[in-house]
Amino acid sequence: MTKRVVLAYSGGLDTSVAVRWMIEEWGVEVVCVLVDVGQDAGGSESLGELQLRARAAGALECVVVDARREMAEEFCAPAIFANGRYEGKYPLVSALSRPVIVRHLVDQARRFNAQAVAHGCTGKGNDQVRFEVGTAALAPDLEVLAPARNWGMTRADSVDFAQKWDIPIRATKEKIYSIDENLWGRAIECGAIEDPWVAPPDEPYTLTRITNHDPLTVTVSFSQGLPVALDGVTLDLATLISDLNLRVGATGFGRIDMVENRRVGIKSREVYECPAALALIAAHGEVEDLVLERDLHHEKARLESRWAELVYDGMWYSPLKQALDSFIAETQRHVTGDVRLEFCAPGSMRVAGRRSPAALYDHDLATYDAADTFRHGDSEGFVRIYGLGVKTWAARQGAKRSSESP
Ligand code: ARG
Repeated sequence: MTKRVVLAYSGGLDTSVAVRWMIEEWGVEVVCVLVDVGQDAGGSESLGELQLRARAAGALECVVVDARREMAEEFCAPAIFANGRYEGKYPLVSALSRPVIVRHLVDQARRFNAQAVAHGCTGKGNDQVRFEVGTAALAPDLEVLAPARNWGMTRADSVDFAQKWDIPIRATKEKIYSIDENLWGRAIECGAIEDPWVAPPDEPYTLTRITNHDPLTVTVSFSQGLPVALDGVTLDLATLISDLNLRVGATGFGRIDMVENRRVGIKSREVYECPAALALIAAHGEVEDLVLERDLHHEKARLESRWAELVYDGMWYSPLKQALDSFIAETQRHVTGDVRLEFCAPGSMRVAGRRSPAALYDHDLATYDAADTFRHGDSEGFVRIYGLGVKTWAARQGAKRSSESP
């Protein structure tokens, strides 16, 4: 029986070549799955064209799955709850889409009675880890194939291969950037960016080209941690994210330039544009500042970086990541309120105001004016007992003046 493989197909050069290469080299049948996670907003190629390309490369079929809502509601939403940013900066754009794609790869592998799934990733990146660990978690019986890790072709070789097999590609032998995109933003690698000293050229950016020079104010409303409305208009999350990407991106806000640590041990300079992701995470954090009790807030902040690391490392479906999700979900019960964001100077944002019906902020406790209800006298005993241990220690050891300290 011929082995059947379900390939995560993007429509680009590598995955198109992978279809024919696996057929020729490994003698398998290939079914392509193109998962729409909101990539290529405003792009030039229709999904129909990409399906035709997969068939021209030799695929039995190319299934298109619309996973935009799923991406928003099951993957971006938990990332907002967790204020998810890897190494404090990157909002996990590609890392969030891989588990969505894996879920559909596995579903289609079952539907087509396939014995394996495949991806077009090379051996140097994080995405191979996410595809393979994700598949292992959801379908430990399925084999995972990585043709691009085996074929040893350069980009020019791949273009020649596509021409030889009449695969209608648009790619040229000099591709400058490697770009991955979805609802949560765009990740840009390669080209001039590979020198961390070189300022990123404007060219690869699309979401954050400045087309609006006027000041912009946007009010984001949250209900139990979830963004539910922009300027009072209720929207489903996928629409809210894509609207915000357009509105806020037009002011130039949302770029990140960083050197990051890949799971495979390589430091890599990457640039991202994620206007909605950065705006929503910032706004969400502001509501949390108002409503979360101090110990809970501090503990959550500690776990957030672990959550982001796990997601980055391809551990979306791991037991630790799922347990952290439960903790984080519990913290979101009162994260309800509004945040006003202002975009005045190109590329910059400020939080101008925040409010919540569940705010623990108490004006009469915080104020220094006549409305003050704080019992000042209580502090005297509190501070004396709080500092008692240090005072006792200092008296026993013989207090040194700071000038005598070691
Ligand atoms: N460095 C980012 C990550 O690991 C982005 C990867 C982008 N992937 C790509 N195939 N261009 O999540």
